[in-house]
Amino acid sequence: MNKFAAPKGVSEYFPDRSKYFEFVRETLIDSARRSGYQLIELPVFEDTELFARGVGESTDVVSKEMYTFEDRGGRSITLRPEGTAGVMRSVIEHNLDRGQLPVKVWYSGQFFRAERPQLGRYRQFYQVGIEAIGLQDPEIDAEVISVADRAFKKLGLKNYSLEITSLGDAPTRERYTKDLRTYIATLDLDEATTQRASLNPLRLFDDKRDEVRALMAGAPVLMDYLTQESASHFQKVQECLKDFSIDYSINKRMVRGLDYYTGTAFEFVHNGLGSQSGIGGGGRYDGLMAQLGGSDLSGIGFGLGVDRILLACEAEGVGIPQDFALQLFIVPIGEAAKRRAVVLAQELRVAGFSTDLAYGDRGLKGAMKAADKSGSRFALVLGENEIASGSAELKNMQTGVSSSVTLRTLQEDLRKLL
Ligand code: HAM
Repeated sequence: MNKFAAPKGVSEYFPDRSKYFEFVRETLIDSARRSGYQLIELPVFEDTELFARGVGESTDVVSKEMYTFEDRGGRSITLRPEGTAGVMRSVIEHNLDRGQLPVKVWYSGQFFRAERPQLGRYRQFYQVGIEAIGLQDPEIDAEVISVADRAFKKLGLKNYSLEITSLGDAPTRERYTKDLRTYIATLDLDEATTQRASLNPLRLFDDKRDEVRALMAGAPVLMDYLTQESASHFQKVQECLKDFSIDYSINKRMVRGLDYYTGTAFEFVHNGLGSQSGIGGGGRYDGLMAQLGGSDLSGIGFGLGVDRILLACEAEGVGIPQDFALQLFIVPIGEAAKRRAVVLAQELRVAGFSTDLAYGDRGLKGAMKAADKSGSRFALVLGENEIASGSAELKNMQTGVSSSVTLRTLQEDLRKLL
């Protein structure tokens, strides 16, 4: 019979690599928690209109990459291509925008974009994201950036950089888009490109074609149009980043792939990943909530690409810390030992030690191989003699050194060694 294969372009994580994935994801989430962000758990599908209005019709994400289908009730549904629009929908629907501000939330899960798959670019991928809603302060911009930066440093990543820009406020954009449209009108562009530019002229900056890039090289630059207020906000964000000792460079030509951005925008880039180098990005979206029918609150957040951050960790040889490994693997030899081992493992688990054991009737060699494969920090061999004497050899799997332990005091001994 033919075997099934996963749909094209999806990423999957299974042992042993899934442990590495889990470590990366948990480190990202931990950093968000430490800055006061709380979990928001949302559906992976939403009303299609939410993304069309929230993310923008001119974006590739909405115009080309959405997984959209009609449900059994004839509604148009889309698998979420990003997290911010859904968070806004939920915050508005549950009136969190009328409660205590700011609303600070984190999320983690699968997102879907029908892109051409390649290493680091998938049709189903994972993000950890945060959103801080209801604060105008430049300090919150720096806080959001610092959550990502702290997580990357905690992971041990070195070869990444942070690019920031300001996309300005509404008056900035109005003056700038007018001049940009005038400039674009002088260019010789094909029908489809002109159409995209008429929806959002900024989109032409992320056109990958050399000829369009060359034409856009002479275009006016948004940062030259910043109002006093926007420029001063951006200045304060930078001062705060310096206070946090976070290195950055200003990228005047950054255009984010989603339409809702205003003011501060940023991207983290890793230099070991080839063309899919963006490991995370985000920014302010001050008009989005009002546009989706909620209060006129500002917001800022990011989405971090867990798949790519994992690849970056692998590229840099980042190791998994010991506390992520199984703590003890018990190897029972013989039937009586097995019965004792099962109970011992259960007691240890209740006491908080992560413990596994060799099932089946493998000999010592096969069982030790299983202990090795489990990635456990310690292994305990339990045979008839050990049960009779009440003491056994506890082997440190990393150093290969064994020490004798009394089974009765195993928990204390383990606690000291771990
Ligand atoms: P985004 O820049 O579209 O922003 O995506 C964030 C990150 O998700 C990217 O930097 C990348 O690491 C990862 N990513 C995106 N597409 C793929 C893909 N096809 N395969 C693998 N990884 C991918 C957003 O999604 C915004 N919602 C972020 C945000 C939150 N802005 C404000 N709040």
